[in-house]
Amino acid sequence: MRLQKGASTMALATAASAASSLTDVCTVANVKSALPANGTILGVNVIPSLSTANTVYNASGSSAMGTTSGSTETYNYCNVTVTYTHPGKDDTVVVMYAMPEPSDYKKRFYVAGGGGYSLNADTTGGLEYGAVAGATSAGYGALDGTTYDEVNLKGNGSINWDATYMFGYQALGEMTKLGKSFTKGFYGDSDSSKLYTYYEGCSDGGREGMSQIQRYGDEYDGAITGAPAFRYGQQQVNHLLPGVVEHTQDYYPSPCALAKIVNATIAACDPLDGRTDGVIARSDLCKLNFNLSSIIGEKYYCAAETATSLGFGFSKRAEGSTSSYEPAQSGTVSAKDVAVAQAIIDGLHNSKGERAYLSWQIGAEFSDAETQWNNNTKEWELDITSLGGEFVTKFVELVDLDNLSSFDGVTYDTLVEWMNTAMVRYMDSLQTTLPDLTTFQQSGGKLIHYHGEQDPSVPTASSIHYWQSVKSIMYPGVSTSKAISDLKEWYQLYLVPGAAHCGTNTLQPGPYPEDNMEIMINWVENGVQPTRLNSTVSSGQYEGETQMLCQWPSRPLWKSNSTFDCVFDKASYESWTYEFPAFKVPVY
Ligand SMILES: *[C@@H]1O[C@H](CO)[C@@H](O)[C@H](O)[C@H]1NC(C)=O
Ligand SMILES: *[C@@H]1O[C@H](CO)[C@@H](O)[C@H](O)[C@H]1NC(C)=O
Ligand SMILES: *[C@@H]1O[C@H](CO)[C@@H](O)[C@H](O)[C@H]1NC(C)=O
Ligand SMILES: *[C@@H]1O[C@H](CO)[C@@H](O)[C@H](O)[C@H]1NC(C)=O
Ligand SMILES: *[C@@H]1O[C@H](CO)[C@@H](O)[C@H](O)[C@H]1NC(C)=O
Ligand SMILES: *[C@@H]1O[C@H](CO)[C@@H](O)[C@H](O)[C@H]1NC(C)=O
Ligand SMILES: *[C@@H]1O[C@H](CO)[C@@H](O)[C@H](O)[C@H]1NC(C)=O
Ligand SMILES: *[C@@H]1O[C@H](CO)[C@@H](O)[C@H](O)[C@H]1NC(C)=O
Ligand SMILES: *[C@@H]1O[C@H](CO)[C@@H](O)[C@H](O)[C@H]1NC(C)=O
Ligand SMILES: *[C@@H]1O[C@H](CO)[C@@H](O)[C@H](O)[C@H]1NC(C)=O
Repeated sequence: MRLQKGASTMALATAASAASSLTDVCTVANVKSALPANGTILGVNVIPSLSTANTVYNASGSSAMGTTSGSTETYNYCNVTVTYTHPGKDDTVVVMYAMPEPSDYKKRFYVAGGGGYSLNADTTGGLEYGAVAGATSAGYGALDGTTYDEVNLKGNGSINWDATYMFGYQALGEMTKLGKSFTKGFYGDSDSSKLYTYYEGCSDGGREGMSQIQRYGDEYDGAITGAPAFRYGQQQVNHLLPGVVEHTQDYYPSPCALAKIVNATIAACDPLDGRTDGVIARSDLCKLNFNLSSIIGEKYYCAAETATSLGFGFSKRAEGSTSSYEPAQSGTVSAKDVAVAQAIIDGLHNSKGERAYLSWQIGAEFSDAETQWNNNTKEWELDITSLGGEFVTKFVELVDLDNLSSFDGVTYDTLVEWMNTAMVRYMDSLQTTLPDLTTFQQSGGKLIHYHGEQDPSVPTASSIHYWQSVKSIMYPGVSTSKAISDLKEWYQLYLVPGAAHCGTNTLQPGPYPEDNMEIMINWVENGVQPTRLNSTVSSGQYEGETQMLCQWPSRPLWKSNSTFDCVFDKASYESWTYEFPAFKVPVY
């Protein structure tokens, strides 16, 4: 009997696995028999005796971001742990997998990203897709909540390279390779049967996803990466730019003045995209047509409050909600307030005026510019964000301190030096902007990359710059229009109007994509290539509206209150295009 390639084994394996029950397969003996022999996955030596398996009933699935998906669906699965060591290292890495009930298993493997300095520790994200999913200790206790920034130094001046490479990309890569091999054995699939493999994550999870398709391109069929916190050296140090602007200008704006500048920018730029809905869908038109100086003189008022820190929680330390008192603030936006805002939006340049990095889009909140109230002097003063401060102490200066204590002697040139040091030092571990995705592309991989257009943490243009790098490295000497149409076949980038960092924006009631995995599965398994990205408005006057987002580099332009076109305009495109002459090597 001759069947189409793959079809016979798949049909047989499905029949075989559907016949088994969860309790049949969820045994340590089955786990051990499914493990790859040493030498099969080079560099990964499994220690079978340390394997565990237990059934879990009526568990709720979690979404990619580790939050509950809101669905009331419950699942039964087999909770498996496998321990391996790297030959010659004597280390141990524990990987944990959630294996769906055999009747639910759809020959899929799902990898979820983490955030900040945390790798994902939740294995249930794949259950709603009939997918096996995993999580890894990365050899440093990541499953028990240890974050990478707690272990990146072994002592002052001594980098923990094992943890750095594991966090950078290796732990997820090994978890995926081992997990895929193990999954086939566990369900009795043949080695050659197709196991569709997906990645999904945002923020550092976006960076991790990029690391996977850059380094393990042939392992993944589909990757969904949001707001990747990659170009690590530049990205992490850039959190300090707003504070250094304030320090350099020796002016510390009140949070209310900055909030007013943001609100007034939204009000002014909202209509430029053709619809007045409270959302800046075209921050490029805002950048090209709006002058912040026009806000000078506008009145602001904010009531007194005991605020919890607006920090984004990149590190564990910043996640702790520090509460601080802020008095009532009323006044008018001053030229000095606007000068700080403008310098932040202009982005980092060295003292020769050479650009070092791109910045947040105009209209985004000035989260890293937050000052703190000194109740003794009755003045606003510098508040060094530990997002950047900790990165400089631990990763650049290599001292085991959680934050910089001051900006004494720190200039724009200092920021550029810190970026350069970090870029060079972590070039092949954390930087994660390798622009050659040939392996991924040639093995049929599909990438949906998205980014909130008003992200106040990871600049939106940072994603554009990577897309442009991939385009120029992989399609050299090809016309722009040809390169763009070739890219669309496997790498699609979408900007989400008004959206903040990996979520909606409280200040702009815009859309957000919610079914990326369905779209990706349909692309990978059924060949349905998306042309737009489905997203839904979840608040405001247009709540419930579906917006099919435009694929970069086309941009939305509303032609009525209910329809928009996707247009290309050169001036807008160029407003997103940057070079970084402050560095001697190319910055991808
Ligand atoms: C694989 O190697 C590990 C560590 O070197 C060892 O503990 C384990 O027993 C080996 N596995 C097999 C199946 O021989
Ligand atoms: C799971 O939920 C079902 C339906 O509510 C219930 O019948 C069953 O007893 C539950 N199983 C366990 C192990 O709790
Ligand atoms: C999964 O197994 C590990 C190792 O035995 C255990 O620590 C963990 O609590 C288990 N999780 C669930 C949900 O059963
Ligand atoms: C900015 O607008 C938001 C509502 O979108 C409002 O809650 C906030 O008070 C405004 N801030 C200032 C300073 O006007
Ligand atoms: C914005 O307006 C101010 C004051 O009119 C002017 O000095 C400045 O050059 C303008 N900026 C831009 C980018 O046009
Ligand atoms: C700030 O100082 C005032 C007196 O100037 C005092 O009444 C108030 O309690 C202080 N607030 C805090 C939060 O310390
Ligand atoms: C970081 O250090 C600065 C300077 O000491 C301080 O103002 C700031 O509050 C610190 N931030 C955190 C999150 O600890
Ligand atoms: C590491 O360096 C910091 C900053 O100089 C210092 O405060 C700390 O005590 C040092 N730690 C050790 C263990 O030497
Ligand atoms: C868009 O996504 C929403 C939310 O997941 C879903 O309900 C809707 O059916 C999707 N629409 C299209 C056109 O795919
Ligand atoms: C579009 O919406 C705006 C703001 O809600 C409203 O003022 C305007 O009348 C609407 N235009 C049409 C053609 O409905």
